[in-house]
Amino acid sequence: MKVLINEDIVDRENTSVDIEDRGYQFGDGVYEVVRVYEGKTYELDGHVERLFRSAKEIDLSLSFTEEGFKQNIENLVKENNLLDGGIYFQITRGVAPRSHSYDRTVAPELVAYPLYFTRPKEKQATGVTAITVEDLRWLRCDIKSLNLLYNVMMKQKAQDEEAFEGIFIRDGIVTEGTSTNIFIVKDGIYKTHPVNNMILNGITRQRIIKLLRENNLEVEEVEFTKEDLFAADEAFISSTTAEVMPICKIDDKKIGDGQVGKKTKEIYDLLINYIG
Ligand code: PDD
Repeated sequence: MKVLINEDIVDRENTSVDIEDRGYQFGDGVYEVVRVYEGKTYELDGHVERLFRSAKEIDLSLSFTEEGFKQNIENLVKENNLLDGGIYFQITRGVAPRSHSYDRTVAPELVAYPLYFTRPKEKQATGVTAITVEDLRWLRCDIKSLNLLYNVMMKQKAQDEEAFEGIFIRDGIVTEGTSTNIFIVKDGIYKTHPVNNMILNGITRQRIIKLLRENNLEVEEVEFTKEDLFAADEAFISSTTAEVMPICKIDDKKIGDGQVGKKTKEIYDLLINYIG
C-alpha cells in the first residue's frame, strides 16, 4: 500500500508514527474520509474545504494549499490503483514533547491512505436498525476532530445490540448518528438537523439537500425531537460510506411500516444517479 506522508508518497512498510505525535497523545488533529468510485475521487473539493475549516477551528495552520493537497490525493489514488473505496486523511498538530499547550511553530503531520470497501447494497435495499443513545459529546461537533472516543463507544454499543447505528439525542433533540447524519420524512417533507455546532455538516447531507431542492422535494433544516423520530413515516442516515441508508427500526420500534420508505428510495435513487 502506498501512503501519503506530508508531501511524499511512500510504501507503507517505510512509514512509522512518532510516539510523541500529538494525534497519538491527545487526538489533537482533524480528519476526512473521501469516497472513490471507479478510480475517481467524489466530492473532493467539499472534503478538502471542510478539512481546512476544521484545521482553522482548532488553530492549526497548514503550510500547503488546497490545490496542492488535492493533487497529492489524486496521485495517491492512482499510485494505489484504487477503484472502489476511499481515502482516509488526517492532520495532527505534529511531534513535540508531551504538554497540553502547544507550540505553533511545530509542523503538522499529514497522513493519507486508501480504504477498501464497496457500496453496502444489500443493507441499502433492506434497511437497517438503529438505537438511540444520549449525546454526551463536546459542543463542537461541527469540527471533524480525531477525538472520536464517545462516537466509538456508542457505535460499539449499537453493534453490541445488533444495530447498525447509534442515533444521538441531546435534550430531547435528534442530532445525528455516531458517524452519519439523520433525516426523517413526515407527511412528504424531509427533515434534518440544522447546521450548527451540534452536528457535522456532512458532505452527503449537503448533496442530499441540494438534490431534494433541485427536484422540488420539500426539505427543512429544523430541529426535531425523539418523539418526532418515532412518529416519522420514514427515516434514513447519510454518510460518505453509507450514502443513503434506510432505517426501518429504532430501539425495536418500527419506523412507519418498518419497510424501506418510498421517499427514502426516491432520494437514494437521486443520489446514486448523481454519483453516476
Ligand atoms: N463519518 N456525522 C458524523 C459524526 C460523521 O463522523 C460523519 C462522517 C457524518 C457524515 O459526513 P459525510 O457525509 O461528509 O461523510 C456525519 C465518516 C464517514 C467517518 O468517520 O468514517
